[in-house]
Amino acid sequence: MARYVITLLYTVLLLPGVCLAAEGGVEKGKVIFEKYCVKCHGEDGSGSEHGKYLKASPARDLRTNRLFFTDSELVIIINHGAAWREMPNWEYVLSEDEVQNVAWYLRTLKFVPDPREGERIFEKKCALCHASDGAAKKIWKAPDLEGSALGPFETARLIRYGIHNTLMFPRESVQTNAEIADVVDYLESIKIKK
Ligand code: HEC
Ligand code: HEC
Repeated sequence: MARYVITLLYTVLLLPGVCLAAEGGVEKGKVIFEKYCVKCHGEDGSGSEHGKYLKASPARDLRTNRLFFTDSELVIIINHGAAWREMPNWEYVLSEDEVQNVAWYLRTLKFVPDPREGERIFEKKCALCHASDGAAKKIWKAPDLEGSALGPFETARLIRYGIHNTLMFPRESVQTNAEIADVVDYLESIKIKK
């Protein structure tokens, strides 16, 4: 019991400290972002002209990072980069703290999704299977998305990476992060509220 009280006390006492550290970290992260990342990812994280026309694949939109990655995944990606693409690995350039700070800064970027754009994409790319009269709906049982129990995070990852061995193919290479975020927002808007 005493141990729980002590742990609780520590948490209560330390939390404001952690929050303050995160706040200072965001400021430092912004400086790092401007120095190393803007070249490809753009001032606001949506992608620079340079980043859009890289050889292997465009620099992805970072404003949507909360939809796709947990805190620790984000740190891992920044550290390791993307093999065979032009996202460098930063672990030898930035210190551990700097990577953490830039990750905190990325968490403050905002993307405002457009559900109408999401609906347009859905009609074009998803309705074939998911609309009530969709061909694959009848044969392979593509589920009704109005009734989906998945939250935005799970839905976004599922659209991006697909479901292995099913007709639900990954969209990572055909849809941008922003397009996926728009579709997710549209799907949230049609969900049957329980
Ligand atoms: C030379 C260009 C370039 C620079 C500089 C760069 N990136 Fe990237 N970044 C990319 C590319 C290209 C991708 C997409 C890789 C892929 O398609 O998997 C990417 C992807 C990412 C992703 C994953 C996004 C996603 O949704 O998959 C994160 C996070 C990221 N970059 C963070 C950073 C940070 C932080 C910096 C600065 C420290 C940085 N990048 C600098 C080119 C760059
Ligand atoms: C070729 C047919 C096909 C297309 C096109 C397709 N899907 Fe799917 N989708 C499926 C099937 C089949 C499943 C069920 C997979 C399984 O067996 O788990 C599924 C599952 C899903 C799920 C999981 C739902 C849940 O609650 O488990 C989501 C979300 C989803 N799809 C979204 C989309 C979106 C968004 C698009 C368009 C960008 C899309 N799908 C395009 C066939 C398709």
